[in-house]
Amino acid sequence: MAGFRSKFDTLRWRDGRLEMIDQRVLPAEILYLPFDSAMAVADGIRSMVVRGAPAIGCAAAYGIALDALRLRHQPPAEFNRELGSAFCALAASRPTAVNLFWALARMRSAWETCRNADAAQSAERLLEEAHAIFADDVAANRRMGRHGAELIKDGARVLTHCNAGALATAGHGTALGVIRSAIEGGKKVSVIADETRPFLQGARLTAWELMQDDIPVTLIADNAAGHLMSRGEIDAVIVGADRVAGNGDVANKIGTYQVAVLARRHNIPFYVAAPLSTIDGAIACGADITIEERGADEVRGHGDLHWAPAGVAVRNPVFDVTPAELVTALITEQGVMRAPDACKIKALLNESRHLK
Ligand code: MRU
Repeated sequence: MAGFRSKFDTLRWRDGRLEMIDQRVLPAEILYLPFDSAMAVADGIRSMVVRGAPAIGCAAAYGIALDALRLRHQPPAEFNRELGSAFCALAASRPTAVNLFWALARMRSAWETCRNADAAQSAERLLEEAHAIFADDVAANRRMGRHGAELIKDGARVLTHCNAGALATAGHGTALGVIRSAIEGGKKVSVIADETRPFLQGARLTAWELMQDDIPVTLIADNAAGHLMSRGEIDAVIVGADRVAGNGDVANKIGTYQVAVLARRHNIPFYVAAPLSTIDGAIACGADITIEERGADEVRGHGDLHWAPAGVAVRNPVFDVTPAELVTALITEQGVMRAPDACKIKALLNESRHLK
């Protein structure tokens, strides 16, 4: 089968500004919003216009480039001060996905190479780096897809949680990229998508994205996963990640942990697809990962519709940690790591440093 060509852009550079598809209104509306400053991009990340770890990283990189371009006629001191604030604003937008901090570190290194350049040259260099981060993400997803596709059997029914697709990345996707690559390789694969309460990334985004590509997808309520597994209706689980700790523990969308426990109970392989930019070697284990808590309204209802009693106490942690021992394999652009652990992760990170 020919390769999939995306029918939408998660984010794109058009006429000197960033445009992002508004993921809050999908699938009802396909709306591209323009962004012309780091502050606007930070708001877009916080309010979930763009979400998904690699996509957030790309957006942040463009946020820095936008401010650098906006400030390019300022004197150096002003340029440096304002750009420093842009880094801080973007770093404060969401706490869990490490790709955000990874992309900002990459932008900072690019900026440091411009020490003797004027503001206009620095701005050009920073835009170039943002484009490179975007292109590298698509390339990593394609390579990850090819490695991961080997694990997917012809005819497999694959459960996924949240959205780890093209909408969560610069293109192709991580978990959904593996599925796309398996299909491109000639396999028949169907997807069971958890709706992913409370923000409904599975129902609104994964279902829509897969339908755009005519990939068979069946939506289930999150609490139906165990039942389907017990009936032998799921052959594999594949999810993305927001941060993989140094020992292989995986932070991903809330509910991932219970899916992993169910998969182990039913002897179903549980795969995590994540680029190296999602691995945080500086964090020893999942307990050290900051878990974002979002507003109560996301749990009490959706939009103007409230189904819970007004004023009821709510907890809304939006990520959880799956211990490495429940992960059958970690798929990265470098290959498939079975039973990830601290030694293997350390070796992978060292190896990839040497490849640069
Ligand atoms: O809150 P979100 O929608 O940003 O959470 C996204 C996820 O948890 C994804 O599974 C993860 O970022 C992997 S995306 C390739």
